[in-house]
Amino acid sequence: MKNRRIVLAARPDGLPKESDFRLEETEAPSPGEGQFLVKINYLSVDPYMRGRISEIKSYADPVPLGDVMVGGTVGTVAESRHPGFQTGEVVVGYWGWQEYALSDGQEVYKFDPSLAPMSTALGVLGMPGMTAYFGLREIGRPKAGETVFVSAAAGAVGSLVGQIAKMEGCRAVGSAGSQAKVDHVVADLGFDAAFNYKKVKDYAAKLQEVCPHGIDVYYDNVGGPLSDAVFTQLNVHARVVVCGQIDQYNARRPPRGPRLLWHLIVKRARAEGFLVFDFAPRFPEAQRQIAQWLKEGKVKCRETIVDGLQSAPRALIGLFHGENLGKQLVRVAAE
Ligand SMILES: NC(=O)c1ccc[n+]([C@@H]2O[C@H](COP(=O)([O-])OP(=O)(O)OC[C@H]3O[C@@H](n4cnc5c(N)ncnc54)[C@H](OP(=O)(O)O)[C@@H]3O)[C@@H](O)[C@H]2O)c1
Repeated sequence: MKNRRIVLAARPDGLPKESDFRLEETEAPSPGEGQFLVKINYLSVDPYMRGRISEIKSYADPVPLGDVMVGGTVGTVAESRHPGFQTGEVVVGYWGWQEYALSDGQEVYKFDPSLAPMSTALGVLGMPGMTAYFGLREIGRPKAGETVFVSAAAGAVGSLVGQIAKMEGCRAVGSAGSQAKVDHVVADLGFDAAFNYKKVKDYAAKLQEVCPHGIDVYYDNVGGPLSDAVFTQLNVHARVVVCGQIDQYNARRPPRGPRLLWHLIVKRARAEGFLVFDFAPRFPEAQRQIAQWLKEGKVKCRETIVDGLQSAPRALIGLFHGENLGKQLVRVAAE
């Protein structure tokens, strides 16, 4: 049996290219005693991957050239010699961009497919869902009646942030990169307002229009000039949740922007970064809650799924062009 996998072929300069990756074929591994073989069904495609393929170490080491591209995956146990895992069980792990992987059961968890389709294990019930849930509730700490503004509002994290903000009794406002996304977050997800940042020249004026009472919680997924403008609209005691800075992930040198910390003094505001893994011990609590919201129809989730392992590099590049609505996934094998 063959295993196809995608390895890192070159470190990208600026925006990644498909030629930065290479498809390889090897023999599929066989499980030894205490191991099981996973047939991967879905790969997660995430903005953080841009950091992993650069040579700069951040909170994790870069992927070495020639290694399998890293990433979250959900799959099915195809063959087991491990007492705790049975053939057919759905498992979530960090096996990267390949069709088959071996596991000894460490850093793996079983996903209950009666909760929701298995693809959600990488989206609303997976890492992006946890990021929205803990970032908003624990760092943003929204209170009923406040205004929560979220950038990249139609993405995997942002779409859930806005929906949770509504359940907390807040006014939820977002920005996204197309009219279709703006319509989706307002009409389908229940945001109070949204705008297409690609069509707006004066962000501060637009923010005043859509957030007439100022911004109490800014859930920042993008950074860059939009975030600069949000700082000017913060209310006293506002909280800035520094979740992501996708506007800068492909920058060749650090951008020079306005110096904004003055606004934090004047507004007695707090800006705090976080990594979702800081909350790992509490993931089961969030998964239970979000699964309940899904069942009750209180949360909706969208996925953009492309087919075939070979589609993964193009899907990653697409994140930086806003090609995804909701969670971006690659279907490697049918369920
Ligand atoms: N701190 C953590 O632990 C943690 C965990 C997960 C994710 N994150 C961060 O959270 C953010 C969202 O992640 P996600 O997985 O939910 O991705 P996502 O929002 O589903 O996909 C990325 C989206 O970003 C938008 N975008 C791309 N380039 C942009 C730019 N230059 N300016 C503004 N928007 C841009 C695009 O939407 P448009 O069409 O709207 O442009 C794109 O669809 C990312 O910054 C990610 O790194 C952080």
